[in-house]
Amino acid sequence: MAKLIGAVGTSHIPAIGKAMDQGLEQTPYWKDFFDAYPPVRTWLDEQQPDIAVVFYNDHGLSFFLDKKPTYAIGTAPEYTNADEGWGIQPIAPITGETELSWHIVNTLIDDEFDVTVCQELRVDHGLTVPMTLLWPNEQYRKIKVIPVAINCERHPMPKPSRSYKLGQSIGRAIQSWSGDEKVVVLGTGGLSHQLDGARAGFINKEFDLFCMEKLVSDPGALLGYTNADLTEIAGAQGVELAMWLAMRGALEGDVKLLHQNYHIPVSNTGAGLMLLEPA
Ligand code: DHB
Ligand code: FE
Repeated sequence: MAKLIGAVGTSHIPAIGKAMDQGLEQTPYWKDFFDAYPPVRTWLDEQQPDIAVVFYNDHGLSFFLDKKPTYAIGTAPEYTNADEGWGIQPIAPITGETELSWHIVNTLIDDEFDVTVCQELRVDHGLTVPMTLLWPNEQYRKIKVIPVAINCERHPMPKPSRSYKLGQSIGRAIQSWSGDEKVVVLGTGGLSHQLDGARAGFINKEFDLFCMEKLVSDPGALLGYTNADLTEIAGAQGVELAMWLAMRGALEGDVKLLHQNYHIPVSNTGAGLMLLEPA
């Protein structure tokens, strides 16, 4: 049986990718942020996962306002990246996974999650920044990736509790897969931020820390929030909490917190990092 070895939550801010491109990791603005990542990289090195299921949101590269799946999953052998206008260098293709991904699709459809299945997909910073951050120097290419996109850009968006349930279904699919691969789940995005409008730059540190604590000890406490609540409390892009909820849903049950960090601001965002193992 495949083994779900753990989960990583991380912000996916484009400026992180740009800082890595430019070698700015140890400059005063970035040092405290980047210094939080080596323990997670070491854990990944020790654990050697074969597959990463990555919950992310597509900010307009593959799904723009003309077509916007609520949930989409990739089943492709490779995913390409492209210039999105944030000034990050496009990265070399991400390796896809083509077997467990179909088992997840079948499980989701059986569980009444009618996902959009993508046999071709370009992936944006929501997926690529975390991959390069966790596996630098193109080490990410050795991991087979299953992208799962959650609509966080255009109303109507899925309820936060629904994304948690999507994660639970994917967790069950991984645990029931007959392969012997080790699987890690990533939740990218958040935490609180608002990129435009009158409240551009809005961050809610207290709420972010509350969410990080509840994600570990009591995720149910976060499932009553609507997207309107999150927009009010955590900024319009605070709805990206959906990916952390899906990640935690996949790792249902008691978890051990191995590492975490919270750093503000990175660009306009409260940047969170969290490493969980099943207890
Ligand atoms: C920023 C954060 C995001 O989550 C994103 O997708 C784009 C930009 C930011 O803080 O600049
Ligand atoms: Fe984002």
